[in-house]
Amino acid sequence: MSAAGDTNAITPPEIRLRKGQTPLVCLTAYTTPIAKLVDRHCDIVLVGDSVGMVLHGLSSTLGVTLDMMIMHGKAVRRGLERALLVVDLPFGSYEEGPEQAFRNAARLMAEAGCAAVKLEGGESMAATIRFLTARGVPVMAHVGLTPQAVNTFGGYCVQGLGDDAERIRRDAGAVTEAGAFSVVLEKVPEPLAKAITAQIAIPTIGIGASPACDGQILVVDDILGMFTDFRPKFVKRYAELGSEAEAAIGTYAADVRDRRFPAAEHVYAAASRPGDFA
Ligand code: KIV
Repeated sequence: MSAAGDTNAITPPEIRLRKGQTPLVCLTAYTTPIAKLVDRHCDIVLVGDSVGMVLHGLSSTLGVTLDMMIMHGKAVRRGLERALLVVDLPFGSYEEGPEQAFRNAARLMAEAGCAAVKLEGGESMAATIRFLTARGVPVMAHVGLTPQAVNTFGGYCVQGLGDDAERIRRDAGAVTEAGAFSVVLEKVPEPLAKAITAQIAIPTIGIGASPACDGQILVVDDILGMFTDFRPKFVKRYAELGSEAEAAIGTYAADVRDRRFPAAEHVYAAASRPGDFA
């Protein structure tokens, strides 16, 4: 069985109950090996549509397809035992209306085995969130900077400044009323994120938001320092794997060119027997 519901994983209602408790730890994952590493540390693992930019070299998330999300969702499902798996509905897979959103959310849940989906938008998505949650699809909402609307915003800019704060407050209130079990608040001023967290009844998951949020989420490749050329203010790097990997690859290349690799321990002696697999 690949569909969720047959595991001991954390559930959306359990996440909902974590409002105001110990902060929820959330990270993205796109592959089985990374899912295995993050599982025991995270409450929620998100297969974000950021996969398009992080793993596929796309310049935005707009080119990410439902099939890509299903493929990465399946890979992450294989690596998780404990964390709640949430998969993003990609651009174009839910905006036409509740029926389209349900059809594609059902595919994500049945084929990728996630227990919840995430979609971007506030007031404009309230009817869709209500439709999905009434039909067995737990929804994590996403307001503030919604990257699928990058062309409407004119870039990945901070949202909710000045009078615009009211729009983000209304969005957060609307997704709560509609039945979302949590909401991502992305790239909004800290005092606004704090105020929304105090105002709504569901957990807020901050990214470029506030330590007062009920949880935090980041892209796992960002905290591992996989990119040397991408350093947004809201990311804290806990490792520099990108430069370490580059150095390791350089050493391998030099070893091959200088015939230091393979060494005696990496080759098979004439005395090897059939059935020597290692
Ligand atoms: O796509 C993504 O990875 C996200 C999170 C970073 C919130 O939406």
